[in-house]
Amino acid sequence: MSGETPLEVNKRLWDGLVAINARSAYYDVEGFKSGKSTLRSIEREALGNVRGKRLIHLQCHFGLDTLSWARLGANVTGVDISGKAIELARSLASELGIEATFVQAAVDDLPDVLDGTFDIVFTSYGVLCWLPDLERWAKVIAHVLEPGGTFFIADFHPFLTTFHSERGADLLEVASSYFPGDGPVRWDDLPSYADPSITVPGPSYEWTHTLGDVVSALAGVGLRVRRLEEYPVCTYAYFPFMEEGEDGWWRLKGQKGSVPLMFSLLATKD
Ligand SMILES: C[S@@+](CC[C@H](N)C(=O)[O-])C[C@H]1O[C@@H](n2cnc3c(N)ncnc32)[C@H](O)[C@@H]1O
Repeated sequence: MSGETPLEVNKRLWDGLVAINARSAYYDVEGFKSGKSTLRSIEREALGNVRGKRLIHLQCHFGLDTLSWARLGANVTGVDISGKAIELARSLASELGIEATFVQAAVDDLPDVLDGTFDIVFTSYGVLCWLPDLERWAKVIAHVLEPGGTFFIADFHPFLTTFHSERGADLLEVASSYFPGDGPVRWDDLPSYADPSITVPGPSYEWTHTLGDVVSALAGVGLRVRRLEEYPVCTYAYFPFMEEGEDGWWRLKGQKGSVPLMFSLLATKD
């Protein structure tokens, strides 16, 4: 392990997580195979009709969302750093007869390995914390986006990581800084978001980015931010003291007020 960069360590982590996640109820691969979409109302409503659009999905994991966009008529390309994730995404596409292109690459390296531009750049739920440099990320987005195209992200709110998420905690306690320190934060093991009964052995490295960093990075490459929304709901039980509503979103139980758990942002390229 010594001598590995944080990105190489994370790539190995994600290679190991693919099989675990593919078996989890969270990803429900069997449901997906039988026709269920993994897309949520937030991104469906934001991007509207994608039929005939060229859509690139950054950090696509093993491609369920990418293939769900394809089922809605988009011409899709998924990108992920994990070779195992890309392998499974390709195999699902071929098994289900869905046309899709999957590329193994770190987001930062994308312009070196992919030609062409896209009408939509999409990325979601658990992505920003794996990126070392948001200015580079924004440059890549601007590079692959066609003029007139749309960028959309939905992710966990950066404010969320300020609090403890350890099992056994029962209230929100500020545990770490909202603002980035020097370099990434190293985790030795973490509960799996896809299956809380599993502890994922580390190490892994995550970077802290504020909401301001996200907006400034995108504005810095000339993208026009059209909409920034924050939500008091989450895709899973980020904290142990959360409950799932009938709408499938998870909310904090017994808090006096709400805190932002997720955000989404839509930007366009002139
Ligand atoms: C939480 S998952 C993405 C979630 C996705 N919305 C889903 O639920 O399938 C994060 C993904 O980011 C990928 N990843 C991490 N760092 C990356 C990087 N620097 N470049 C490209 N992909 C990366 C991982 O391999 C993993 O598949």
